[in-house]
Formats: sequence, C-alpha cells, structure tokens
Amino acid sequence: TGATGAFPDAFLWGVAFAANQVEGGFDEGGKGLSQADVIPFRVASDYVDITSLMEASAASIAQAVATPGTDGYPKRRGSDFYHRWESDIDLFAEMGLKALRMSIAWSRIFPNGDDLEPNEEGLLFYERLFLRLREKGIAPVVTMSHYEMPLNLVTEYGGWTNRAVVGLFERYARTIATRYQGLVHYWLTFNEINTTVIEPYTGGGVIAREPDPGVDPRQASYQALHHQFVASASATRIVHDVDPSAQVGCMLARMSHYPASSDPADVVKAQFDNNMNLFHSDVQVRGRYSGHVRRFWRDQGIDVRMEPGDDELLAANTVDFLSFSYYMSLVSSVAPEKYGATGGNLFSTIKNPHLSTTEWGWHLDPEGLRYVLNDLWDRYQVPLFIVENGLGATDVLTGSPADPTMGAPDTRRVHDPYRIDYFVQHLRQVREAIADGVNLLGYTAWGGLDIVSASTSQMTKRYGVIYVDADDDGRGSFDRIRKDSFYWYKRLVDTNGEVL
Ligand code: BG6
Repeated sequence: TGATGAFPDAFLWGVAFAANQVEGGFDEGGKGLSQADVIPFRVASDYVDITSLMEASAASIAQAVATPGTDGYPKRRGSDFYHRWESDIDLFAEMGLKALRMSIAWSRIFPNGDDLEPNEEGLLFYERLFLRLREKGIAPVVTMSHYEMPLNLVTEYGGWTNRAVVGLFERYARTIATRYQGLVHYWLTFNEINTTVIEPYTGGGVIAREPDPGVDPRQASYQALHHQFVASASATRIVHDVDPSAQVGCMLARMSHYPASSDPADVVKAQFDNNMNLFHSDVQVRGRYSGHVRRFWRDQGIDVRMEPGDDELLAANTVDFLSFSYYMSLVSSVAPEKYGATGGNLFSTIKNPHLSTTEWGWHLDPEGLRYVLNDLWDRYQVPLFIVENGLGATDVLTGSPADPTMGAPDTRRVHDPYRIDYFVQHLRQVREAIADGVNLLGYTAWGGLDIVSASTSQMTKRYGVIYVDADDDGRGSFDRIRKDSFYWYKRLVDTNGEVL
C-alpha cells in the first residue's frame, strides 16, 4: 500500500496510561486508598508465573494500609503526574497528539467507593485537566476503571463479587459523565475486562484478595464478571442519556491464540481459547453471552446468578466501539507439556518458535496485530480502537542535566531505536489492516511517559517515549527527558503515518 492517505484524516494518534500507574499523590486531594496503593514492589524473578506475584493476603493488605508514605509501594508515587500534569500535557501537545487515553481514579471521586457525595477536589482535578486538553486540541479517551477500585470496596464488600457494587459504580459513572459532559467524548468502561477471570474481587489485573473460604474462585470470577458487564451496560446507558453525542467503548486485552500445530485438535483448542477471550466483547458488542461460554459454565458446574432484566439491559446497551490492548499472541495446544513456556503480564503461554520475545519474555508479533484487527472487524463490524500497544524495555539515560551556574545545557538523552522499531513494525501492520478495510478510530501507544508497571510495579520496565528520571525505589529527580522515540512519534503524528 502507498503511504499517502493510509490513515484516515481524523485518526486519533495518542498515548495512553492509567491513573494508578502515573499519578502518584495517592493520599492528596481527598483521595481514598485504592487497590493499587497496597500493591508492594516485588522483583519479578520468574516472569512466566506473574500471577503469583499479584496475590495479596488480608494480612498484607492490612500491613500496607498501616504503612504511610510511598516506600515499597511504587503505585503510590507513579510518575508524579498529579503534580506535573500541566507540563506533561505541554509535552504531549509538543508531540502534536490528537488523543490522550487516561483513566479517572475512582477513589479520587468516591474515596471509599460507597460515599453518598463525590469529592469535589477530585472532580476539579480532572476538570482542569480536561479543560487544558481541550485548549491543546487533545481528545481525552477516558477509562472509568483501570485497576484502581477503591480499596474499601475490595475489603468490605468483596469487590465485584457483590452485586451492590454495581449500584456504586453507576453512581460514580453518572457523576463523572454529568460533570464532564462536553469535555469527554470517548469513554471506556472497564480496562481489560477479561482479566476478571483471573481475579474476581478487584475486577482484574493487579491485585488479588484471598478467596473467601469455601468459595470456588472460578465461580466467583464469572459472577464478578457478570456484575461488571451489567455495570458496564448501565454506564453506557448513563453516558448516552447524559450526552447522546458521546461514544462508549468496551476494552479487551486481546489475546489471540494460534494453534501449536496443524493437528485439528490443536486448531479446535485455539478456537476455544479465542472464543473464551472474545466472549467478553461478544457480551459488550453483541449484547449477549455466546454459546461457547454458556457451555463452558455448564461443563464446569459454574452457575452465574443473573437478575431479571439483566439480559435486556445487556442487549439494549451495547458499546459504540471496541477498544483493545495488544501486546502479544499466544499459542494453544492440547499437549502444552510438549512445548516450552514464555511469559506474559497476565497470561503465560507456550513458546512460539517463530517469534522473538521482549526482555520480559513477551512474544513480539507485529503481524498478529493485523490478524487481530481483521478478525475483530470481521466478527463485529463496529469501529475499533487500539488503546494500548508498546514495548516495556530497559532504557539507558546518558548525559547530564543543565547546570545554569556553569552555563551548561541539558545533555541528557535516551537512545531507544528498539522502541521506534517496535512502533514501525506494528504500525505498518496497522496500515495493512486499514487497507484491508478495517475501520480504526485511533492508536494510543502505551505509556507516553514512563510509568509504574502494572504487573511488576517496576519503574525500570519503561514504556514511555518520555523518560521519567526515577528508579524502582522512587529515587531520582522525576525530570522528563524526551527519548529518541519522542521525536520519531512526533513525526509520525505530524505526517499522519507517512513516516512509516
Ligand atoms: C495492560 C494494562 O495489561 O498492560 C496496563 O492495561 C499495563 O495497565 C500494560 O501497564 C503493560 O503491562 P505491564 O505489566 O508491563 O505494566
């Protein structure tokens, strides 16, 4: 395909991050503790079994709550965006970004999750931010909940396993949809909703609570997930009621599975694994559970309680677009023991001999992104949005900061050709998919700034095009330094992809 005009004129080029990984200010502005604030730093020695790093006992949560400050809890300090957001937005504007995918910390708005009135200081923080973005011509793409549930709802309510949380989320969704009406045009409900199958209490991803005694964790997970689907459909209705011009998307961690061999048994296993990933978007885009998941529940003896009206609510409030994260592909086999394993942040996988991996063991599969885009478009025929894609890597900072007393300029640089290459490889496949006919709204690269890793809480697993001068222990100036990839990404946006 020719480069000119390959991307639509209104294509939303941007960067993406989540409040709990970027903001810091965990106890400022009336914010309550969130699940992310009690996640300790743990060096990931075995990236294959990352889920074991995310288990938290009631005792470790209590210990975290009793610990003041940010030491040992990197998500409490993030990248200090809470204090530096104005100059950070200036950097995004300098890059010419059209979109910023971010999230609202639920516990800034409702510190305990069940408060009757919202926290005005939290509401104001995001209002100012959205106003500034508007001035700069950057569209916010806002996730309502990105791994940052108020901790009180986890410990006192049992998180998403408790139907009462649906109503509390509705109150939150109505509050922010109303307050930011006209400022936010793109909403996402839950980040990577499919991660709830791993962890029922917090709605996925990042911290586990011990299962309640006598509870089958899978039963709890699917019940929690149903509650999230209901909450998401309700939030979609609320946003549409408040602002009919606003658009709501679901957000899926797309985990595409390839068969390990051409053995039909492996092919059927890969199809099953794909359907178990895609049933989440089936519910949110098509408005109903697939036969695949219903059969799975039957086979496993899982009984999801639904209330009268749930089916109708899901059917009547489907999303306007489907957004997803894409980092890797996975491999399925009926005999996985025949193959070696490799890592993933949430889902480890069989090693694919055709693919290399990142330093953290994640498969690198740019062509898989074209496959995924075509597959999702063919299945749903709704606009798609890539809201996460990027490379976690170790970067090296060279040079020295400016020294005005000596008249010395800032010579700090980060040379990250590997990250530029990652973007080039992936975005060329995106361009192919658009040429294939896929309707794609935009692409927001994960990180923008270096942020605290969701799975390992490392700062040194860097995703940004802007370096943040801080280490895993939070030591450093937190200065922002433009990486080589910053300038490349700026050219990408300026040329609407022609630089590819
Ligand atoms: C996604 C999450 O799963 O992957 C992000 O939505 C996360 O929050 C990203 O940061 C990268 O994962 P990690 O564990 O390397 O930070």
